[in-house]
Order: sequence, then structure tokens, then C-alpha cells
Amino acid sequence: MISFANMKKAIILDGKALASEIRADIAEKVKKSKKKYGKVPGLAAILVGDNPASTLYINIKKKACVAAGFYTVNHHLPDSISGNDLIEIINNLNADHKIHGILVQLPLPASINVNKVMGAIDRHKDADGFNPYNMGMLAIGDPRFIPCTPLGIITLLDHYKIELKGKDAIIIGAGAVTGRPLASMMLNRGATVQVCHILTRNLNDKARKADIIVSSTGHPGLIKGDMIKKGAIVVDVGISKVNGKIAGDVRFDEASKIASFITPVPGGVGPMTIAMLMKNTFYAYKLSLKTDASR
Ligand code: GUN
Repeated sequence: MISFANMKKAIILDGKALASEIRADIAEKVKKSKKKYGKVPGLAAILVGDNPASTLYINIKKKACVAAGFYTVNHHLPDSISGNDLIEIINNLNADHKIHGILVQLPLPASINVNKVMGAIDRHKDADGFNPYNMGMLAIGDPRFIPCTPLGIITLLDHYKIELKGKDAIIIGAGAVTGRPLASMMLNRGATVQVCHILTRNLNDKARKADIIVSSTGHPGLIKGDMIKKGAIVVDVGISKVNGKIAGDVRFDEASKIASFITPVPGGVGPMTIAMLMKNTFYAYKLSLKTDASR
């Protein structure tokens, strides 16, 4: 048994503070750009159905964009909508010159082919980086638009000067939103990456060997202190509600006594995801100012 009592506390990776700096910087750039070009970045947000978590997330995203001076358009669609009707709405947004970024909140109803929908988003307006073209470019090491959560994680690690080159990283959760694109990003930066999932055996042993642990399973308390190597970096992407309170995947009280750096929940990866959506939308807007041939 490891005793956590006398261990030094980990440094908190403060995503909330960094995200607010990034958002303020983008808001400043929007102001300047509006003066110069008479235009502002535009984001279209599409929500299908009434999933409470998705409704909450999309409202936070929209508010952040409005606060930064973006133009926003919202589509709240019934979960009975067909994939083809959803794609028609996306096609109209692809053709709309005031819209530079298009976001379709996930998950979509099971009846809709998510990859077909993501593939319909103009790859130059792909603020979430989920278009299979952008996912593929990231996977082959030539990234364009990068999904917001992994981009937020890497931006946060970079800010704290945490080097990935040569490190052993373990990612728990192999979803397309976080685990898979993050694995590509870490690999592209020279880490040795292991991606674990529900069928992975001996997760505890694997986790204990890692220099960096990222967990994005949505299982509160899955990562215990004794699964963490002393001095490891711990990134918690889980957001669950336990007894009315937000909880991550990691047992913070235990982990923060073993790790060298750790993200809190809330206030870690979540705010970074929002800031990266704005960064990607601003990038798409800048791209739209260039000619087709140069982008
Ligand atoms: N669902 C969970 N995370 C995300 C995200 O980053 N983007 C979108 N569009 N949907 C999500």
C-alpha cells in the first residue's frame, strides 16, 4: 500500500486561467480585425435533440463566442431530423460567407451517420476538426484543424513547458473526440503512446508505468493514486455529476500527492476546449481572408 500522507502536492495545470488569457487575446484580435477588414469571425452551432449535457456545453460555447465579438448562428433541431436534412443545413452554412466555423454538437442520435455529417462540413470551416479529412491529416502528421479537447490539452502542457518527446504516455479512452486525436498529437510530438479502452487488460499495471496519464472515460474516480507513477503528469478529461457535483475520472486527493502536475475538474481541460473552439474559428476566419489558391 502506498501512503499518500507525506507526499508533496502536484502543480495544478490551471486551464481556467490559461483559457481566459487566450480568450482575451482572441477578443483583442477580433476588434483589430473588424477595424481592418470590416468583418468578424462567424460560428454556426448546431444542436440536435435535447441532451442536457450537450445543451449546457453548446450554450457555454455560444456565450464565449459572443463575448469575444464573434457573429453566431444557432440551429436547434429535433432528434427526429434525418441525416440528409441535417446535411442540407450544413451545405447552406458552407455557402454562407458570414460563417467561418461550423460546430455540430456530439453525440448525434444513433439514426444519423456521424462521419457522413462531419464529412459534409467544409474542411476549411471545420472548427471542431472532426471532418474525416482533418482527422486523417492529423493522423498522418500533417495537421490542419485539430479537435478542441486534445488541442486544449497539448496547449496546456506546452504552457507549463511539459516536454512530450521520449515520454511514455497512456491515454485511457479511445473515442474520436479526445483519445484518438490526442494519441496522434502526442505521437507527432515524439511520445510513445498507448491507447487503452474497455477491453484493455491490466490497466493499473500499464498506467503505473506511464510518465503521462490522460483519462477521458467519464467514469468518476476510475484513476486511483496507486495507479500513478511518482512524478507522473495527470490529465483528467472526465466530466460527470456525482451527488449534484462535477467529478472527474481521477481521484484528485490521492493523485495530487503523487503526480508532479495535475489538471483539476472543473477548471482544467474543460475551459481549454472552449478556448480552442474559438481559436479554431478565428483561424478559419483568417483562412477565409486568403485566396482559395493559398489556403
Ligand atoms: N461532445 C463532446 N465534446 C465535444 C466537442 O469537443 N465538440 C463537439 N462538437 N461535440 C462534443
